[in-house]
Amino acid sequence: MEVITSIPALRARIGAMRANGQGIGLVPTLGGLHDGHAALVEAARAAGDLPVATLFLNPAQFSESEDLERYPAERDADIALLKAAGAALVFAPATEEIYPPGFSTRISITAFEDVLCAQNRPGHFNGVSLVVCKLLCIARAERAYFGEKDWQQCLVVKALVRDLNIDTDIVTVPTARDSDGLALSTRNRYLTAAERRLAPQLYHEICEAAARIAQGTPTELACAEAQETLTLAGFSQVEYLECRNAETLRLAPSPGRGARVFVAARLGAARLIDNVPVPA
Ligand code: PAJ
Repeated sequence: MEVITSIPALRARIGAMRANGQGIGLVPTLGGLHDGHAALVEAARAAGDLPVATLFLNPAQFSESEDLERYPAERDADIALLKAAGAALVFAPATEEIYPPGFSTRISITAFEDVLCAQNRPGHFNGVSLVVCKLLCIARAERAYFGEKDWQQCLVVKALVRDLNIDTDIVTVPTARDSDGLALSTRNRYLTAAERRLAPQLYHEICEAAARIAQGTPTELACAEAQETLTLAGFSQVEYLECRNAETLRLAPSPGRGARVFVAARLGAARLIDNVPVPA
């Protein structure tokens, strides 16, 4: 598995790979990889694509108060994980390769800008959109794979691709979880042992809320009670715990089909997010 750092070299390699008729499946990541990332590579492979993973810690999507400085950068371990998962190629550019001196373009995406993570992380999805747009333009992949743990990100990327007529299909992959239910996340590494024992409650409370909503409990009540339980359990701040339509992200006071429960909460030094469907 080759590791490539320059855009022209990546394009040349992708061109050569395409010559044998297989599609390219792009898997963008920030690094600090875990089995959730591996699941995206495996999904690309299972769909018959040649998985091209990208490792790029994108400064544009972190605000000054966020964790860019301490975000795990373990290139060798990340490359080994991608190789084991079956990636055909890794693109691991330096910051200047993506944002060379004089780089001045910004993307401002207004889809879903006033809900969920967009409210708590101003500018975050503009930074995500900028780098995803660049990576899709660079790779010109047939498909790109994104994880449903970051449900709002999936919707933002789909809006971006639609609005800018980018010729790549966006494929979403279910959330990979630890055996106790906790969604795998790079930020789980920030948890102490005691916090790690508490963390799966995030998943269990949104499952419980979703089940109660399906059985007829008013969504606001089910969500408020789940939020209260998490706060009492020791989550320091529950940023949101809400039931919303899966496609529009509008609040779903009486969910029909396609509602999901979304949560973001802080536990120690980690900000954790998760979401689950309301059962039909
Ligand atoms: P990162 O957090 O590294 O995640 C890379 C991809 O892995 C995203 O599509 C994310 O949704 C997916 N992922 C993370 N945890 C997962 C899990 N437990 N199960 C399934 N998929 C999971 O998201 C980003 O990076 C960045 O914003 C990026 C899209 C790379 C743009 O910089």
